[in-house]
Amino acid sequence: MKDLTPRKQDLDPIEIASRDEISALQLDRMKWSLKHAYDNVPFYKQKFDAAGVHPDDLKSLSDLAKFPFTVKQDLRDNYPFGMFAVPREQIRRIHGSSGTTGQPTVVGYTERDLDMWATVVARSLRASGTRPGDVVHVAYGYGLFTGGLGAHYGAEKLGCTVVPVSGGMTPRQVTLIEDFKASTIMVTPSYMLSILDEYRKQGRDPRESPLDVGIFGAEPWTNAMRAEVEEAFDMHAVDIYGLSEVIGPGVANECVETKDGLHIWEDHFYPEVINPETGELVAEGEQGELVFTSLTKEAFPIIRYRTRDLTRLLPGTARSMRRMEKITGRSDDMIILRGVNVFPTQIEEQIMAVHSLAPHFQIELVRKGRMDAMIVNVESTEAAASEAAREASAHLLAKRIKSVVGVSATVNVAEPGNVARSQGKAVRVIDNRPKE
Ligand code: DLL
Repeated sequence: MKDLTPRKQDLDPIEIASRDEISALQLDRMKWSLKHAYDNVPFYKQKFDAAGVHPDDLKSLSDLAKFPFTVKQDLRDNYPFGMFAVPREQIRRIHGSSGTTGQPTVVGYTERDLDMWATVVARSLRASGTRPGDVVHVAYGYGLFTGGLGAHYGAEKLGCTVVPVSGGMTPRQVTLIEDFKASTIMVTPSYMLSILDEYRKQGRDPRESPLDVGIFGAEPWTNAMRAEVEEAFDMHAVDIYGLSEVIGPGVANECVETKDGLHIWEDHFYPEVINPETGELVAEGEQGELVFTSLTKEAFPIIRYRTRDLTRLLPGTARSMRRMEKITGRSDDMIILRGVNVFPTQIEEQIMAVHSLAPHFQIELVRKGRMDAMIVNVESTEAAASEAAREASAHLLAKRIKSVVGVSATVNVAEPGNVARSQGKAVRVIDNRPKE
């Protein structure tokens, strides 16, 4: 793999500023953001008033803990434009969630918000090792989902040649990467695996591909998966994080030179980690639920938004800005099986450790008698596709899950190509338990 460490002089100065400088900037901006939300969004005024706090009560960054949380339901209750802090005419773009469960949620951006977003995505690309002039293949979905357009404008801002492919039509993805000589790909890690399969299907050696960098996010993925993809393509695989409520992709990104967690672009997004049960801040470095407050957003200021994502905050390394550890999972994705908490990423880690298995998987939850049970549907590699080999792999995986994760699972190992593929975010858990 190439050394793609960016030069210090190419970074935004704030990325390597002193902690004091960063905190001072955050405090100024946080005061503005709280006041902006309070003065312009009735929802925030009511919430702050009810909690007996006022933006003027914020004297230091830690005073933020006095302010109430915002949750996804608040966005639903204010659908579609009730959380906007500027007149609708000043909104240049709308994004939203697909709304697979219940009402969709809507977010908006002013022209300045779009420019800030492009700036943080450009910064993320640079941290990943992408440089001006590179060809960037964007296979995140374009549309209301923030992945495609968010990546797109960031890559343009950095000065790259952008190929806006979106998801789907996997054979064509491979053709375009090869013909246009893309050196960076932005895509969900699960869809990258489909692209890898397609390389092999076409008889192409993925290690000979022009790709040097993959910027993967929008869903949890493990370091074991990183190792697999880096080896398969002979390229760097880095993690990008974000959510539409906070801006979209580009809230945090790993640095290619360290790959030790994601630096949060703290000059625009202020992180806290709370105990999801009590809502209290956890001690520094402890795991909990990530909460974000926007510091500069105009159209859609967001105050103490509960992401449901579980991680811990760590000090800066390659940049002064703090890191978040790779996300373990969302609290909503946590499976509780006979009292043991299980995240799909833990199952992924065990699958990756069994070399006769391909990394495609889905977890099915069923009810057996009065107990919940977990079925792991996975598939073999081409080389280990015989019935005997698949049985042996199933046995091995079940044993690993039992001993390392601590739960019993039924493992079905299918022949290659039998587990549903994603073209965007993978669906990892299918809940077939009877509804109460
Ligand atoms: O997924 C934004 C995005 C697009 C991020 C492309 C990165 C790349 P939403 O659709 O609003 O936005 O979903 C946000 O996805 O709360 C996490 O649960 C999950 N997620 C996003 N990035 C990561 C990541 C986009 N790197 C939700 N690791 C978040 C783990 C992630 N989970």
